[in-house]
Amino acid sequence: MWLCILSVVIAYFIGNISPSILMAKAKGIDIRNEGSGNAGTTNALRVMGKKAGAVTLIIDVLKGTCAVLLGSLLAGHTGAMWCVVAVFFGHVWPVFFGFRGGKGVATAFGALMGLNPLLGLATLAIVVAGVLITRRMSVGSILGAVCFPVLSFFMEKDFIYLGIVVAVIVLIKHRANIIRLFRGEEPVMSIFERKTD
Ligand code: G3P
Repeated sequence: MWLCILSVVIAYFIGNISPSILMAKAKGIDIRNEGSGNAGTTNALRVMGKKAGAVTLIIDVLKGTCAVLLGSLLAGHTGAMWCVVAVFFGHVWPVFFGFRGGKGVATAFGALMGLNPLLGLATLAIVVAGVLITRRMSVGSILGAVCFPVLSFFMEKDFIYLGIVVAVIVLIKHRANIIRLFRGEEPVMSIFERKTD
């Protein structure tokens, strides 16, 4: 029980490590006031370029995986499941950055890879399909969140309720994207933008 609580606390603080906020800070800007205002890969790519986007993606995914593996080591499968939620919360609401973080997609994916790699990869396949078809990361993220409880039901039943919590928060964090999508105003990912000159 105590080890489970300890691993959850550690996972939350691991989630606080925000490469996009830190890299933007080093450039004298606050990523949360630029582009979509999200402290995540898509916005880092949009605002700071490919290298920053790649670094953000790698660290955000890895911190999810590390937190969950640590939880599993300290407190078994139950600890690992709670650490998925804790590292996700730490990314979305980081105490070190005024509780203004990202939308949690990359971190949730990394965490899932630590919990159940097959479930992680199945979710990733849906996200990637959504992105490739629409060229919009938000569509992939939303699709992944909507399908996740179904995948969970078949692949990781124990995690279904916690998984639904994570999926619902991902959807709530995408509410501005959903409105833009309905208005036809959601931009395509910068890596898919065609150069006009
Ligand atoms: O994972 C975040 C992505 O789905 C949307 O990011 O910056 O376009 O709101 P953004």
